[in-house]
Amino acid sequence: MKKIEAVIRVEKLEEVTDALEKFGCPGMMVTHIEGHGRQKGIVEQFRGREFKLNFIPKIKIEIIVKDADVDKIIQLVSGIAKTGEIGDGKIFIYPVENVIRIRTGEKGEGAV
Ligand SMILES: Nc1ncnc2c1ncn2[C@@H]1O[C@H](COP(=O)(O)OP(=O)(O)O)[C@@H](O)[C@H]1O
Ligand SMILES: [Mg+2]
Repeated sequence: MKKIEAVIRVEKLEEVTDALEKFGCPGMMVTHIEGHGRQKGIVEQFRGREFKLNFIPKIKIEIIVKDADVDKIIQLVSGIAKTGEIGDGKIFIYPVENVIRIRTGEKGEGAV
């Protein structure tokens, strides 16, 4: 299993999470964050306005998925989140050792 952590534009939240649900991702975590990448402090578009800030609002989506689904999900998220402008975000992939469903005690992929 892997954790896919996608940092995307706020305005892409609904489209990306809808696509993930349609793909068959049963669970996800969504956090409203602030951050910056390489272009710290330069002007970036946010909801049609120009911002010159150190930290720009973004959405972080975390999903734990089967190894076999990782590439497809990266393509799905990238395809929707990409505008080609600076600030499109990033995707980070982490190994996941185990998952435990507290209610039933199920472990591993069956608990995702
Ligand atoms: N190296 C990093 N470590 C942690 N978070 C990052 C990193 N790079 C980017 N981010 C997160 O992704 C968001 C969007 O990054 P982005 O501006 O698209 O990256 P870059 O400018 O490096 O191309 C940032 O606001 C930040 O929250
Ligand atoms: Mg940037």
